[in-house]
Amino acid sequence: MNEPASLPLPQLRSLGETSRKDAWWLQPAATFAGLFAFIIYSTWAAFQGNHYWFAAGGAEYLSPFYSPEIFGNSPHAWFGPPPDWLMKIWPPFIPFSPALLILWAPGGFRFTCYYYRGAYYKAFWGDPPSCAVGEPGFRKKKYRGENSFPLIIQNIHRYFLYLALAFIGLLLFDAFKGFTFVDDDGHHRFGIGVGSLVLLINPILLGGYTFGCHSLRHLIGGRHDCMTNCSNARQGAYKGVTCLNRKHMLFAWMSLFWVGFTDFYVRMCSTGVWTDLRIL
Ligand code: FES
Repeated sequence: MNEPASLPLPQLRSLGETSRKDAWWLQPAATFAGLFAFIIYSTWAAFQGNHYWFAAGGAEYLSPFYSPEIFGNSPHAWFGPPPDWLMKIWPPFIPFSPALLILWAPGGFRFTCYYYRGAYYKAFWGDPPSCAVGEPGFRKKKYRGENSFPLIIQNIHRYFLYLALAFIGLLLFDAFKGFTFVDDDGHHRFGIGVGSLVLLINPILLGGYTFGCHSLRHLIGGRHDCMTNCSNARQGAYKGVTCLNRKHMLFAWMSLFWVGFTDFYVRMCSTGVWTDLRIL
């Protein structure tokens, strides 16, 4: 296979120079603010290691930042408290938090998402700040984009997709548990609290984002390059993913906001700041 060509690009504009008359800076500025706020909050929440579940009034809510809880001290932990062997290798300067065991998977999926890549290359790296706007002059003499190290690693996105699909199932299960209440007589009954709905909306929005993934679109039908000879099931699946793919940016932002809000909601209920209202 031929090596990709290294093409010298003339630096035609200085940073921010453009002939565009619209408010081109608005979108990268909003992207920067939104992603920065999410990174700060999610990092803070992940390192807390407490107040990530709520079990009062019979409700069973678990923050999505902590799901699945592989080892931990909540009733949701799959294998109970962190074992000795884990605590021996855990860095002593980092407090143990179940979120740190799992957040690399959904975080890696978002970080390598085709939409987010385009968004944060502009918003954080100014590379370029927007279409037809000058970028920093010290940048590359040669441009090889995502064909060379380190950005070629972004291709790992297709593998993060498999993990992200599994997370949708796990979060749906958490939502299901959010509709299970323990009544005074000790029986598990169906019920609805505000938190049940908050937990349910989360995997729906995440599903809208994940099932609209460009890699999934390729996997499910795009790679076959056929519009007429494919099976009806494949065509139907391809059309469904394509439909969500058209709204990929919208679902990316809605699901990002809601997953953060879901953690916040559970945290507020767990700390007693908010009361979870029982609807049914
Ligand atoms: S391209 Fe955005 S999630 Fe895969």
